[in-house]
Amino acid sequence: MCGIVGYVGKNKNAMKVLMDGLQCLEYRGYDSAGIAILQNETIEIIKSKGKVSSLSHKLKAKGIVESELGIAHTRWATHGIPNEINSHPHRQGSVTLVHNGIIENYTQLKADLVLQGYSFTSDTDSEVACGVIDSLYKQYRDKHKTLQQANAMFRGSFAFAIVFDDDIKTLYAMRRNSPLIVAFKEDEIYVASDVPAILKYTNKYTLLEQDEYAVLTKHEVEIYSLQGTRREYEIKTAAMEVVDIQKEGFDHFMLKEIHEEPKVVSETMRFYLGDGISDLMSRLPDLSIYKELYMIGCGSAMYACMVAKSLIESKARIKVELEVASEFRYKNPILTKETLVIVVSQSGETADTLASLQLAKENNVDTLAIVNVVGSSIAREAKYVCYTLAGPEIAVATTKAYCTQVALLSLIGLSFSVIYQKVSKKEIEEIINEIKNIENTLSNVVNDGQYEVAAKIISKFSNVFFIGRGIDYALCMEASLKLKEISYIHSEAYPAGELKHGTISLVEKGTPVIAIITQQNILEKMISNMKEVKARGASIIVIASEDLEVDLDIFDYRITIPKSNSYLQAITAIVPLQLLSYQVAMLKGCDIDQPRNLAKSVTVE
Ligand code: G6P
Repeated sequence: MCGIVGYVGKNKNAMKVLMDGLQCLEYRGYDSAGIAILQNETIEIIKSKGKVSSLSHKLKAKGIVESELGIAHTRWATHGIPNEINSHPHRQGSVTLVHNGIIENYTQLKADLVLQGYSFTSDTDSEVACGVIDSLYKQYRDKHKTLQQANAMFRGSFAFAIVFDDDIKTLYAMRRNSPLIVAFKEDEIYVASDVPAILKYTNKYTLLEQDEYAVLTKHEVEIYSLQGTRREYEIKTAAMEVVDIQKEGFDHFMLKEIHEEPKVVSETMRFYLGDGISDLMSRLPDLSIYKELYMIGCGSAMYACMVAKSLIESKARIKVELEVASEFRYKNPILTKETLVIVVSQSGETADTLASLQLAKENNVDTLAIVNVVGSSIAREAKYVCYTLAGPEIAVATTKAYCTQVALLSLIGLSFSVIYQKVSKKEIEEIINEIKNIENTLSNVVNDGQYEVAAKIISKFSNVFFIGRGIDYALCMEASLKLKEISYIHSEAYPAGELKHGTISLVEKGTPVIAIITQQNILEKMISNMKEVKARGASIIVIASEDLEVDLDIFDYRITIPKSNSYLQAITAIVPLQLLSYQVAMLKGCDIDQPRNLAKSVTVE
């Protein structure tokens, strides 16, 4: 949700660093982009509507030269349409800044500033924040006091990179509820929304904590608490490498990331499983004290929870409440000492998921975060954290991170089954053997070309339905979201028995209905449901495990997936659905890695 990068350094590398950084941060938003760069001792601002590439063209045309200081921003619009005026950097008086987050009380702050004589050209809360900082600086003439007071006045979330006109050799940064890192190279300092943005230049970084601010010059980094106390910091080394954030010959990051699934799922499962169940139990928190789970997330992370709920309730026989984070955070949930709240998030920064975690903590219950990004806010706030080992995910639509979430949650489900003695030794052995082979199994699915015919059928329609029962319905939800996100085809996921209660009226001649079936016990019911829509003209695409027999006259096209143990079946079943969406989006010529209106990391409500 908006990407920020800043540079100050003796090598006058600002232009290159900022533009490389913005390219890496585009997954956070790509409505517009802009930079503020030191040129001839003044701060020059250049902004452009659209992607970072259009800003690049503008910079070339303007003949902007290398510089020792600059800040830059790529935007996902919240306040005000995506146009040049609303794009960042913003400037008021002697202050220039870029902002990620939302200043919730900006209307009131704006009214106060107008009374002071300020006027605004944009519709953004960020320009108001800029005005607040300028006004406070006029009053205090002290940058520390100004930032501390501004922080106290802002409600909501922010990550800022700021330059003051009277101190053009220094960058200031401040954050709350939006991530910000400071990175180091000899006599060069960077500030960014995340590590990949500066990885080409350095892998040494530190994180700014909640409500801290930093003063950055080419020689020194000073980090202060809100009270103005300077603190020491630990320099971390990023585990990722530059190749991890490149396409490596694939047309899209999404395709590359799907192709990484066999490896990352296997690595995640083997890391936790080690030599068997006792290793698994020792690498997870002590789950034996919990009798009920709440599982919370947004988007695909929530659908991973939905798969887990189905699995854990049916297998381990313990109750799982599923909640969308943006709903949970405003509820008055019934939580007891025996409840474990599990929050799931790829980025570890999703605002609603973070707020849900905080609400759980306020209710004094234990929390476990399943997170992909090491050191992210959610990872740091939860009592326990278990990382998925998906590596950096760049495509906006998640694939490999979702798969590793399902994989890790399945292991958690297995642990509960062991604790509650709902799984036999023989089945555990079977599962472990399958996990040992999962890389192979998934590689076969990923490299299969069965999806192209089905993709052609789907791409011709503007309405699609997914149907399934139980855990297959949970998979339908994720499959449907994936299709909507990247191909812009309207799609709905329904429990197979429910479609006839109204929505079936939308089925017309040819409407694709995609049925997912991985369970023998519901096969006959699913066949009846497919017949119901077939009789009304639907084209049926069935995605079924290899052990299930479906008569040829029922479907128009079948995609067969390997049969797995029920603890692992969801992992193998989702891969073809991701590839199917990818193929449809390719046929429709969509912007697969950066679909319209979306952003990968949603740090606002
Ligand atoms: C955004 C992304 C989704 C993602 C959701 C949750 O909406 O577009 O792909 O599932 O956020 O993100 P998280 O980082 O918390 O998993």
